[in-house]
Amino acid sequence: MGAQIHGTQKFNKEERNKIHFTMAALEEIQAIMKRYPEGKHKSGVIPILHIAQAENNGWLSAEVMDYVASLMKIEPIEVFEVASFYSMFNLKPVGKCILEVCRTSSCWLMGAEDVVRHIEKKLNIKDGETTKDGMFTLKTVECLGSCGTAPMLQCGASYHENLTIEKVDSLIDKYKSEGKGRYYTDRDYHNTL
Ligand code: FES
Repeated sequence: MGAQIHGTQKFNKEERNKIHFTMAALEEIQAIMKRYPEGKHKSGVIPILHIAQAENNGWLSAEVMDYVASLMKIEPIEVFEVASFYSMFNLKPVGKCILEVCRTSSCWLMGAEDVVRHIEKKLNIKDGETTKDGMFTLKTVECLGSCGTAPMLQCGASYHENLTIEKVDSLIDKYKSEGKGRYYTDRDYHNTL
């Protein structure tokens, strides 16, 4: 039998209002937990954190992580351990577009450092920082599994590969002009530029 959230608990309105997860997200979380045998549902913490992050403007606050822990009936530290280990989870507020530039060997050898320096100069931010308008965060990350098309970066669910400085410029311009006022997350599978 699949794991239940809080036994037979239904998500109540008070909890929803506190954190502002949508009902659709809460139902998806419940469905994920049900995939696992009784008592093993904490294996679903990674996909659940992806949902939680998308529900909270692209980052995981302490309150959101605590909320996830309460939904899953696990200890907050068990959520934090996972959230703090993987670079795809953000523990502080981020911009709407997180430009995750791969800094591992293939990408670095193929010019990722130039890409990073160019973005820093163009957006007037350093690695890990967010532009004043809240649009872009620059983040260098480890290998994203696209080594054959280095250098590359990820934004939301999209990979941008074989980067050149010109490509980076047009990419940033395109994200700016889209102006959708929404956060690009790795759950945004249909986001293509
Ligand atoms: S080294 Fe950059 S994607 Fe693997």
